[in-house]
Amino acid sequence: MAGLAVNVDHVATLRNTRGVVSYPDPVAAAVMVELAGADGVVVHLREDRRHIKDRDLKILRKVVQTKLILEMASTDEMVGIAFEIQPDLVTLVPERREELTTEGGLDLIVHQNAIAETVGTLQNSGIPVSIFIEPDPDLIKIAHQIDTTMIEIHTGTFCEAKTYKKRNQAFSNIVDAAKLAHKLRIGVNAGHGLCYNTIKAFKGLREIDEFSIGHSIVSRAVLVGMERAVKDMLALIKGL
Ligand code: PXP
Repeated sequence: MAGLAVNVDHVATLRNTRGVVSYPDPVAAAVMVELAGADGVVVHLREDRRHIKDRDLKILRKVVQTKLILEMASTDEMVGIAFEIQPDLVTLVPERREELTTEGGLDLIVHQNAIAETVGTLQNSGIPVSIFIEPDPDLIKIAHQIDTTMIEIHTGTFCEAKTYKKRNQAFSNIVDAAKLAHKLRIGVNAGHGLCYNTIKAFKGLREIDEFSIGHSIVSRAVLVGMERAVKDMLALIKGL
């Protein structure tokens, strides 16, 4: 049965819109996410610190009881922070200052050597790494060569598809990618853009180990509370 890791970045986004206040605290959200039964807490420490701050990450490391997953760019600064914080998993993502959110998977064809070096450095020190990539068999094969512990399949194209045809094609790419990675014994996470509707498409796809979901859960939590928002998503995932 697949797990659920909840990304609490947007709790920090809400806090930061008022600059001077310290609420809502993403650390408090992480505690509630865990109490509701999630399998992990995800945060993305961006170069510009637009949502999660260094202070959040340090406290989360002390507070999170399940699994702390750090999304980060493959830079010397972030590798240093990962060494200091010792997350349970690092997910390497591409990062551009001007983007609203992560816009796609890592280009492993262009950046293979640099990513391989970061994966090696982190994994040799005992921190497992996941690489966020598009559902493309060529990228999965490179991920296998790099010897990464996991991949995270980018589900954004599927979630955002406007036509039935594009949606079907995008989903079939995800299925093929998950099956290939699983066959190559790479762990498979999936995320980006998933909501209470799109998650239902994953019924029967046993190769996915964990879903990483943020925006839709935090958005529902604003209306119904974090506990119910997480439990609603967990119920859907457990029924897949
Ligand atoms: N996975 C990765 C690698 C991401 O960058 C993000 C967004 O921070 C997510 C999952 C979660 O996406 P969403 O907030 O759309 O659920």
